[in-house]
Amino acid sequence: MNNSAARDRTDLLSRLAREFQLSSGGAREIIVHFHDEMRRGLAGEASSLKMLPAFVPRPRGTERGSFLALDLGGTNIRVLAASLDGNGRATPGPVSRFAIPRELTTGAGDALFDFLAASVGAFFHDHRLDACRPYDLAFAFSFPFLPLAVAAGRLLSWTKGFAAAGVEGQEVAALLRNALRRRGMENLRVAALVNDTVGTLAAGSYADPACDMGVILGTGTNACYPERAGRLVKYPAAAPEDETIVNIEWGNFDRLPANDYDRELDLASANPGRQRLEKMVSGMYLGELGRRIVLAMTARGLLFRGAAPPACLEPYAWTAEHMALASGDAGDFSGLGLTGAATADKRIVGEICRLVARRAARLAGTAIAAVVTWLDPALDMAHTVAIDGALFAKYPGFPEQMRTLLGELYGDRAPRIAFTPARDGSGIGAAIVAAVAAASRE
Ligand code: BGC
Repeated sequence: MNNSAARDRTDLLSRLAREFQLSSGGAREIIVHFHDEMRRGLAGEASSLKMLPAFVPRPRGTERGSFLALDLGGTNIRVLAASLDGNGRATPGPVSRFAIPRELTTGAGDALFDFLAASVGAFFHDHRLDACRPYDLAFAFSFPFLPLAVAAGRLLSWTKGFAAAGVEGQEVAALLRNALRRRGMENLRVAALVNDTVGTLAAGSYADPACDMGVILGTGTNACYPERAGRLVKYPAAAPEDETIVNIEWGNFDRLPANDYDRELDLASANPGRQRLEKMVSGMYLGELGRRIVLAMTARGLLFRGAAPPACLEPYAWTAEHMALASGDAGDFSGLGLTGAATADKRIVGEICRLVARRAARLAGTAIAAVVTWLDPALDMAHTVAIDGALFAKYPGFPEQMRTLLGELYGDRAPRIAFTPARDGSGIGAAIVAAVAAASRE
């Protein structure tokens, strides 16, 4: 590479660093917009934040019983059992995991729900459970739905690349109930329909009353928090001081400084114009952002001598996990399909991965800061944020970069915001919500 090409590379990298930078001043501006959108969403005005009430408060820790949960996340299904001891301890029981065949996420809705019911059937079989005994099943459904009751809700729109036909606008607990009936599993009662963030908050606050936020940083991203029912102007409350958990659906937040790569990714996605924050933060999109930047640099002749390796050509072929491996100390580029690339090229790809992931972590930290300061503007109290999802749990340095941002914003008050990992929290938490609902019926 001659000197001028080397200079072009360095220039482009510094431009990228600027485009993917989120300063603490930028984070503060986002927080102001976020509060504005929260307020509008609660008031029923046009807003990118849907602010959906779950119609349940946080658990008290005294709920008890045994429940099953079916957790439909972004890439996997989990079926699990959990028992609650009434003393803040939820003990996970047997669990089975199933990968969702890609074609089911975009095929006929009935086929997807039949697969869910078949997964529950396989769980019964694998763990030799009595298929004649009645069970309460909580459905952790990681998509935006309009709750109609504790165990009923209408899917507003698919996210995370799902597009199964005939499901948007439908009541999804009923779709599951019908699929279970088609398999003859009449012994299962769908007892709660719970967004994964609400499950995560329920799991966190069952054990720790200071927990007041549930966050998912995985294939998708979102959060929920406890709100005074009276502030949900669009759902008149019987008792305004009662607490209800609100699913923010923050993945759709859109008052953000987007760059050309963000705009192009959005336009080419299955849901253009939607889930703009999710497309900058969550695991489903980080690899794709990285891939697009690398392709653009290659097109300018600044990488791979201008000829893109086949591994860069397929949309969504790069995952966040591949990026983490490439930008980590071991510099493992096999997942990105770049093992044979020149060392100098790999160094730049690694740097691109780091820039994309760093902005994602800082945006995630910003969104958490926005919700915590909505609850407690001067950070007078301690807050625990329960967080589930592979990006948080497995991406090296991600939680630390979120913490750095909080430190920049709040100095010595930042430690008042504690992160607690809620591994598999959404499934167990959905079971806890089923228990909360059962307790309120008694
Ligand atoms: C969905 C949310 C969900 C989040 C995390 C988003 O795409 O809209 O409902 O909580 O992913 O799974």
